[in-house]
Amino acid sequence: MQDSSSFINLYRLNPRPQGKWLYVRSPGRINLIGEHTDYNRGLCFPAAIDKAVYFLAEEDTKFSIHALDRNQIFIQNQRSVIPDWLVYFDGVLKELNLINDKLPKIKVSFGADLPSGAGLSSSSAISCGFAFVLNEFLDLKINKSDLMHIAIRGERHSGLEGGMMDQISIFNGRKDQALLIDCQDWTFKYKDVQFKDYQWLVVDTKVHHTLVDSEYNSRSRACRSIVSKISLHYPTWSSIRDIENDCLQACYSLLDDIEKRLLQYVVEENQRVLEFDSALLGQDPEAAGQLLLAGHAGLKDLYCVSCAELDYLVSFAKTDPRATGARMMGGGFGGSTLHLVRRDDIRSYTEDISDFYKKATGMEPRIFELIVSNGLETLEMGQSV
Ligand code: GLA
Repeated sequence: MQDSSSFINLYRLNPRPQGKWLYVRSPGRINLIGEHTDYNRGLCFPAAIDKAVYFLAEEDTKFSIHALDRNQIFIQNQRSVIPDWLVYFDGVLKELNLINDKLPKIKVSFGADLPSGAGLSSSSAISCGFAFVLNEFLDLKINKSDLMHIAIRGERHSGLEGGMMDQISIFNGRKDQALLIDCQDWTFKYKDVQFKDYQWLVVDTKVHHTLVDSEYNSRSRACRSIVSKISLHYPTWSSIRDIENDCLQACYSLLDDIEKRLLQYVVEENQRVLEFDSALLGQDPEAAGQLLLAGHAGLKDLYCVSCAELDYLVSFAKTDPRATGARMMGGGFGGSTLHLVRRDDIRSYTEDISDFYKKATGMEPRIFELIVSNGLETLEMGQSV
């Protein structure tokens, strides 16, 4: 999906469609720290953002989906070209058993100001948003937790064996607060995200290397295999999270070099999340910045999911006194970086990092200030006669 405000314009121009209608906002997410830890039952620190996918559902005589930004339409029984976004809708419909003659008679339009491929979870925003739309519009009465799992399973039809961080933050996001999630039992605590005198900046590389799905799945499988090897010796442990510090060296000796690096990264990243929480609590932006940089180094050198474009942006933050640190976010191999920048310097930092990136890559990055917002929400619903 492109950067576009077409849907938002539609909402403003035509706020009262005919019959029954529903407007829903499904946000993207950032992650402060704790990457590739969710499927390892570790800790992560995501937040919903102001940029979102917007849906309008209306009563109709058949089922159709209209991608306003792309000018593409999918109509029931007319599958000539299959748009790439359809898999996210299909997955949710299958999980709800609303397929073939059970397809609902609704017209769903969607558009976004959330860029896709930017590591901000636009696909989860679609899956979660569509599940939410169906639940509300068809009055399915599915509770939030079950609905979230339907969205998670629906999205897995796309082939990505993702964790649950994205969907938890999209369903539960809260203005100005991030969710410190313990993926051992999926509980979370809300935490303020701001450092006084500092602002969070998202810098999108605008690159999306095709490796992302296959490399993501191979990392999560490798982690499962690490756990299987270790659990032969420590049968009560069922995830990397269970490994006790005293036994870490013994565990390394059971693994090959690549596995050792993956394990080291996950163990250290969980620790960084805790330290980051303390840095937020103690309002210590310097310590937070160092943790971001250390997290990025781990993703680059140990977990090996970064790429040159992400590294350029982080290297800029590393040597620039206006930022305390930065790191890549999401699955990797492209997408966005998150920077902690002194508020008074935001404008000059934005200009300079943009020039730096342009010189290095020939591309202009997409840069925006992070606004932490509410999760999934109904904007309006009603029925006109
Ligand atoms: C993707 C997945 C998440 C998470 C991140 C990496 O965004 O969807 O579940 O694993 O990558 O932290």
